Amino acid sequence: MTLILRFFKKNIFQFALMIIMISLSSCSTATIEEVVITERVTFDADVNIIITNNCLPCHAGNFAAGGVNLEGYTNVRNATENGNLLMSINSVSNPMPQSGLMAPNLIAIIEQWAIDGYLEN
Ligand code: HEC
Repeated sequence: MTLILRFFKKNIFQFALMIIMISLSSCSTATIEEVVITERVTFDADVNIIITNNCLPCHAGNFAAGGVNLEGYTNVRNATENGNLLMSINSVSNPMPQSGLMAPNLIAIIEQWAIDGYLEN
């Protein structure tokens, strides 16, 4: 312990820098918000528009990316219930959309839709 203290006394500048970096990194983790959705979430009213805007550019038609077509209730429900949709929209290493994860409130709406049992309308 005294050795460490001596080291930091000698390197007070590095020590200060380290503290600043630690506090900055703890700030960035604090931005991971907990979003609570209280309204009733349905595919038609809430989920479809999110998928259309963020996913369909790549996940539509016969040549949908990764073979995952996300057009319409049945396809989206299947990808959520039986596929990797929920994992993908939270993935840091392979995020969907590929350009970067959606805003936390949009992710939370899709998660709430799954929790509520995939209401269509
Ligand atoms: C810019 C194009 C693009 C957009 C936008 C996009 N994806 Fe993808 N997606 C891909 C490609 C390419 C793959 C196949 C390669 C891979 O898995 O990374 C894929 C794969 C997937 C998979 C399969 C992953 C697996 O491991 O089985 C899912 C599920 C998925 N996307 C969901 C989504 C959802 C949900 C959105 C919108 C929130 C979205 N994607 C937006 C291009 C895109």
